[in-house]
Amino acid sequence: MADATTEAALPPLDSINAFGPEVLSDPYPYYARLRAEAPVYRDPHTGIVYVSTYDHIIEVNSQPKVFSNKFGAQLRSGSVHDIDPEEAQIMAQGVQIVDTMLTADPPEQTRYRKLAMKAFTMKRVEGMEPYIRQVCNDLIDGFARRGECEFKSAFAAHVPMIVIADALGVPRADMDTFRTWSDAFIDQLGGVATKERRRECARLIVDFQRYMIDKIEEKRARPTDDVISALVHADLAEEGDHRKMEYNELLSILQQLLVAGNETTAHTITAGLLYLIANPDEMAKLRADPTLTPNLVEESLRMLTPTNNMWRVVKHDHHIGDFPVKQNELVLLRYGSANRDAAKFADADAFDVARPNAKDHLAFGAGVHHCLGAYLARKEMQIAFPIVLERLKNLRFARGAQSYSFQPNILMRGLKELHIAFDPA
Ligand code: HEM
Repeated sequence: MADATTEAALPPLDSINAFGPEVLSDPYPYYARLRAEAPVYRDPHTGIVYVSTYDHIIEVNSQPKVFSNKFGAQLRSGSVHDIDPEEAQIMAQGVQIVDTMLTADPPEQTRYRKLAMKAFTMKRVEGMEPYIRQVCNDLIDGFARRGECEFKSAFAAHVPMIVIADALGVPRADMDTFRTWSDAFIDQLGGVATKERRRECARLIVDFQRYMIDKIEEKRARPTDDVISALVHADLAEEGDHRKMEYNELLSILQQLLVAGNETTAHTITAGLLYLIANPDEMAKLRADPTLTPNLVEESLRMLTPTNNMWRVVKHDHHIGDFPVKQNELVLLRYGSANRDAAKFADADAFDVARPNAKDHLAFGAGVHHCLGAYLARKEMQIAFPIVLERLKNLRFARGAQSYSFQPNILMRGLKELHIAFDPA
């Protein structure tokens, strides 16, 4: 498979361009080298500190006072991309959003997170179950007779997008535009977009903000039972000072809710199916014992790790293990590598639906920033996989080895497409 470890073919560590398309399309051989040779490593090309083992990442995530999530300013300052004045000018036409959850530190992060958490409680997500089931079945109705489809665009990408758009309270008719916006946010962070694409992303992001401001005003005037209404009317209790959130706070939260859950969930559903088709014994194991479904979800998350990397900024001089790091240094937590760490997961590159500790993966992060949508994402996938397997019989690749390819991106990992065939129903 495309992401199997092939250490022998690799050149010395310091000659590798970690952000080059070769590493990004299959980072696992590079990760294996990092874990073995330099578990905490300052890349001489980028100056960024990479943290690649399970234990070191846990160490960093347990110290939010030292390792900050306020990486937005650092990224915008040209640490990763050169600054493009035209892109900056386009962004200046929109709202300068503030750091809220993912890009904030406690105590601010905690305050915003508490409000957003209310929208995705276990009780609320449990109540969504019949509805998510319906969404999955309706999507499959659309292509089951064809006997063939590109699975990501026909199914996997729609499930989380419909669920989050409905939860936010925006019309399904706007779904395609939502996807365009979600892609723009991801490409802006992805580290491989051209200058032209980044400018286009900036324009799209400003459009997103204008659309959302209209929705915010609509829900302020006529609240309905949805997340935007709840956030607009929520009380951000700040040290005894009660107030409603401003545009720059609301937009930041809405942007995270839109982006954080879409591609990640879509990629995991797509990759899970890829791993099952590529590993017929695992498919058979699962069909024989459907109670393994929750573990299939965890193992797919571990194997793919859609949020493959995440930034931190060092607040003051410190150590990771015995490796010294300096104030303001940019750190990249390599979650994808931690999830293949043999010290934690036996035979870590193998896909095993019955893996006893699959759930220990770091695909949802760890510590104060642990994914806010983990319960919802798990629920969507625990519903989607059995429906796909039940309704699409004799699943196989439609185009042999050409059926799938991974898309290069620094932060996200996932398939561009997955062409499958099955018995028409
Ligand atoms: C398979 C699906 C998903 C994966 C793999 C994933 C992964 C992650 C990871 C790794 C983090 C922690 C980032 C860090 O270390 O700083 C995170 C945070 C977050 N996720 Fe998810 N996520 C998923 C689905 C969702 C969904 C469905 C939502 C929204 C409903 C969501 C909303 C968020 C938010 C708001 C944060 C920031 C939380 C905070 O900083 O307090 N995610 N996610």
